[in-house]
Amino acid sequence: MPLVSMRQLLDEAAKGGYGVGAFNVNDMEQIQAIMEAAKQTNSPVIIQASRGARAYAQDRYLYHLILAASELYPEIPLAMHLDHGNSFETCKSAIELGFTSVMMDGSLKADGKTPASFEENVAVTKQVVDFAHERGITVEGEIGVLGGVEDGHGAGGSGLEHVTDPDQAVEFAEKTGVDALAIAIGTSHGAYKFSKKPDGSVLKMDILLAIHKRLPKTHLVMHGSSSVPKDLQDIINQYGGKLKETWGVPVEEIQLGIRNGVRKVNVDTDNRLAITGAIRKVLWETPEKFDPRDYLKPAREAMQKVVALRMTQFGQAGHAGDYQAVSIAEIAKGYKNGSLSTKPLVADK
Ligand code: G3H
Ligand code: 13P
Ligand code: ZN
Repeated sequence: MPLVSMRQLLDEAAKGGYGVGAFNVNDMEQIQAIMEAAKQTNSPVIIQASRGARAYAQDRYLYHLILAASELYPEIPLAMHLDHGNSFETCKSAIELGFTSVMMDGSLKADGKTPASFEENVAVTKQVVDFAHERGITVEGEIGVLGGVEDGHGAGGSGLEHVTDPDQAVEFAEKTGVDALAIAIGTSHGAYKFSKKPDGSVLKMDILLAIHKRLPKTHLVMHGSSSVPKDLQDIINQYGGKLKETWGVPVEEIQLGIRNGVRKVNVDTDNRLAITGAIRKVLWETPEKFDPRDYLKPAREAMQKVVALRMTQFGQAGHAGDYQAVSIAEIAKGYKNGSLSTKPLVADK
């Protein structure tokens, strides 16, 4: 199957009432792990690359690796998404490269650190939507600010500092026409989300519900959705690592989110933990080894296991064969003739 529009993938998820994991990649092994997990569970999938990933792997390597994945797994609907674009130019360059979806994270200024004003966010996101939709490309926006910092990106602080205001979310979606909307409901990026075991109310479900009720056609996105499992932390620490005690988002909370309109679930940290633990184990137990394949293969397998589990938990497993890819040119026509409009957005005030 050719690379598909993320909008199509999320529209299908909404019909089926499930969530789709969006997994970050930087290299070939991570892409292979995701695709094998998708094959194993028969899942549609979103592969996403951050600015850091694009700089690390070099754009063309990344693009061709993901393209190779779509050729090798023709039965898997696969969307290629830019994670946390910081400016119009970053999104434009991803679209010109061949990404089928971009995130314009205008909740922060272009420095990726300072919270932006609502007006600034609307203006830059609308600019990206106009450019992207004309070309059939999906756009995710963000309103409210997540906690934590990843690779220099993020406002820092706890996930509860800038939770999304539902009224602003509605106004933002109406003014920009985004296909998907990341909202801040208490999660944060990275491994250190909660310093004690979270209870059942870690996520601001009332905010999620209020937004979903008023924006039924806009797909909600949950960033910072790693669960930071204890077993993965333990493997790292058992083999010489020094992770401090920490907790992530319980999977049941994510599932509750999915039952209330969350369609895209971003996971990076859990896979980083799985990879690092597997590599540490091999190097610790067999220090004589020096062939990278000896540790990259178990690392890839460890990531596949985590991704396959998440695909099952998010509900996307079993749905790869539900639909055929609509071409990006057809999607562009849908934006032009209004059939893909997310308006009227407001179902009930
Ligand atoms: O949201 C951040 C993702 O985990 C990607 O992180 O910017 O370090 O590649 P990165
Ligand atoms: P985690 O750090 O929880 O995996 O979140 C990843 C993310 O939101 C990428 O955009
Ligand atoms: Zn994120």
